[in-house]
Amino acid sequence: MQHTVNPTNTAAGIKACLFDLDGVLVDTAVYHYKAWKRLANSLGFDFTEEQNEHLKGISRAESLNRILAWGNVKKSEAEKLELATLKNNWYVDMISHMTPAEVLAGTVDFLTSVRKDGYLVALGSASKNSGIILEKTNLAHFFDAIVDGNLVSASKPDPEVFLKGAELLGVAPNQCVVFEDAVAGIEAAKRGGMKAIGIGNKNVLTGADMVVSGLDKLTSQDLKRL
Ligand code: BG6
Ligand code: MG
Repeated sequence: MQHTVNPTNTAAGIKACLFDLDGVLVDTAVYHYKAWKRLANSLGFDFTEEQNEHLKGISRAESLNRILAWGNVKKSEAEKLELATLKNNWYVDMISHMTPAEVLAGTVDFLTSVRKDGYLVALGSASKNSGIILEKTNLAHFFDAIVDGNLVSASKPDPEVFLKGAELLGVAPNQCVVFEDAVAGIEAAKRGGMKAIGIGNKNVLTGADMVVSGLDKLTSQDLKRL
């Protein structure tokens, strides 16, 4: 189902922070890249880091569709399921060895400060592996609600993942700010009627209300400017 929320003009003030996981809190892109490259190579074609950039925020199934199209390879739905499982097994092998040292700069301080200042905190990720990543990196305890790829049916840029987060936290969409590194995620936040802070390059994340290079560049005071 496609969701779109019309933003209202009633500035209710930000009460909740919704965080994407991969590329915002932790750098897992390299593990996704290695696993997809191994899969592509096993099918007889290559997969570049540049192509990997285009898969940010995109679900596992859709990522596989795009990779097969780049390699000009056709597979049945049953074969695709097998290939996605194979890639995920390789990926899970790698993320099982993650440690808190792989949390991106500024993440722990920022999560600590928004909680201290009374903001509610939720995860809004496309990943079905968020549980293991949050556990291995010791971030799980920061979250009041966790919404990931296991709970949603529509992928970003559909706002479902963030609307579910707002609902679980009991706040209105216009009281939420989303932190995202993917263009599809910024679009999802805006379609959900939320504020969006881009983590990355401002020339890429053009739809965001504010863009910073990482959470280490933000304090919870900055949320008052939204
Ligand atoms: C997103 C990543 O967070 O999760 C994508 O940016 C990934 O690259 C997607 O494909 C799904 O992740 P997983 O762990 O369920 O395969
Ligand atoms: Mg991301």
